[in-house]
Amino acid sequence: MAQAKVRKKKVATKMAYSVSTLTDYSAEALERTSAELLSALKHEAAAVKSDADRKVFRDRWMARKNGILTQINDLWLKKAPKESKREAGRMVNEVKRAVEDIIEKADRVESATPVVSGIVDITLPGVQRSIGAEHPVIRTTNEIVSVFQKLGYSVAEGPVVETDYYNFEALNFPPNHPARDTQDTLFIAGQQSRAARERLLLRTHTSPVQIRTMETMRPPLRIVIPGTVHRNDPPDASHSPMFHQVEGLAVDTNITFGDLKGTLDHAMKALFGSSVKTHFRPSFFPFTEPSAEMFVSCFICGGSGKRGSDPCRPCKQTGWIEILGCGMVDPNVFEFVKDNGYDPKKVSGFAFGMGSDRIALLKYGVDDIQLFFQGDVRFLQQWG
Ligand code: DAH
Repeated sequence: MAQAKVRKKKVATKMAYSVSTLTDYSAEALERTSAELLSALKHEAAAVKSDADRKVFRDRWMARKNGILTQINDLWLKKAPKESKREAGRMVNEVKRAVEDIIEKADRVESATPVVSGIVDITLPGVQRSIGAEHPVIRTTNEIVSVFQKLGYSVAEGPVVETDYYNFEALNFPPNHPARDTQDTLFIAGQQSRAARERLLLRTHTSPVQIRTMETMRPPLRIVIPGTVHRNDPPDASHSPMFHQVEGLAVDTNITFGDLKGTLDHAMKALFGSSVKTHFRPSFFPFTEPSAEMFVSCFICGGSGKRGSDPCRPCKQTGWIEILGCGMVDPNVFEFVKDNGYDPKKVSGFAFGMGSDRIALLKYGVDDIQLFFQGDVRFLQQWG
């Protein structure tokens, strides 16, 4: 056994290819020489089994100093007699290309395929890449947006870092008005040197995009505005300092509260099922007059306030769930964009805003908003 091994090694050493000087530059001799080299190359390439082998192989053939390619350049090309230079050059180039090709291929195979002792192990299972899932809040937002898109609404967006002017002033929140306190605003630091209306904050609602859009698009207008908003609310099961809203705005001549009710009633039936009812209660928002809160009949208990003999928690046993704020656009708001065709004497409109996270909680029966933002894959996988 031991003897056989030794013998084999000796044979292998003997056969190792080396570049010798060329004396015969005839066409046949050149052909033979290059064929010999290429056959040695293929032989050696096939014997490469590991990363270490690959490195040795690469160096032996490609090393600048004394690699086989360098040697053939020196021994075959540079030393060729003048009249054979052309033929020798062509042969050397061909050989070079073949060597580079094989080595490049060997490198590529290495980086793409797992190799077990130089062999691709086709019995191994493939690498499974899990397909991402749409986040429940994004999914809900998209559902809401698409309900309105089918009614002819377009989608508008605006910045999350907003000025006081768009977040408050142009929405008819006068400076220092107590209505601002209801928004628990997060302000950007170091803004004292700016004029009050220029000061930056994290938008507390998507309503500023109403103004931004009316500044650039003339009436009639129908838009929905999905987006992220921030408030200085400590996180708990139903609050998060970052959450999501979908805003809506319709402006035309003769838009009435009846249009608002009909549109929102249709949207709620499309979102929660055709059997839900809607119900409006008077409310206050600085940018709408009159304003309302809209409720839908509880789609969990069917409006009874009870689940079997247990109280229904999502509607607090009332049979109604508050979904959004809405109202007719206050003429004072139109005054800020009057020059772009929004003369409050000529146009009217309605607006609404809802929290997509809250709607996602209700739709999917999740009882803690924090779960949406903690990024726990085990929770998110349920939507995959
Ligand atoms: N922006 C309000 C909020 O975040 C929600 C809202 C109420 C939006 C009434 C509206 C609206 O467009 O008309 O509390």
